[in-house]
Amino acid sequence: MSETIRELISEEDVDKRIRELGEQISRDYAGKQIHLICVLKGGVFFMCELAKRITVPVSMDFMCVGSYGDGTKSSGVVRIAKDLDESIEGKEVLIVEDIIDSGNTLYYLMDVLHRRNPASLRLCTLLDKPERRVKDVKVDYVGFEIPDEFIVGYGLDYAQKYRNLPYIGVVEGVE
Ligand code: IMP
Ligand code: MG
Repeated sequence: MSETIRELISEEDVDKRIRELGEQISRDYAGKQIHLICVLKGGVFFMCELAKRITVPVSMDFMCVGSYGDGTKSSGVVRIAKDLDESIEGKEVLIVEDIIDSGNTLYYLMDVLHRRNPASLRLCTLLDKPERRVKDVKVDYVGFEIPDEFIVGYGLDYAQKYRNLPYIGVVEGVE
């Protein structure tokens, strides 16, 4: 493996932005309880940090939806590898995702969750690559808009590596 990682967004800048998102979300949901749904595995670092910055009550659940293989190309196939443990009916649901790329995964997931009758359904993503969008997905909260490059760190992987980097980086030296 000859790939290298170039820092794109520093640990300090990510932390600062997550605090801002937490404040904004806390204001928007004042007087309510938020049911956070983490999209595994990539969303887990972001959800933990975000949840700590939200001041209204939160509950959490986890879902695993796959569309990627081991490389940097989407397979285009969306499947639920792990479903939620609890019902979302009547809850204020906020999906927490690492990155929206083509939009295929979230387009599918929003549709599935909508049918389960939540009181509200919103989407928060740490990173957004708008140039790559194929499906029209409405994103309510975005950490950073980024260019069309392959990203790792803060939960995001390349062939299951680099999720634990505390900053956001770009993979260089791969096809
Ligand atoms: P989408 O369905 O194309 O929007 O892709 C969604 C999923 O693909 C994300 O939740 C990530 O898990 C993965 N993904 C998309 N772009 C990247 C990237 O740049 N680095 C790592 N994973 C990515
Ligand atoms: Mg993901």
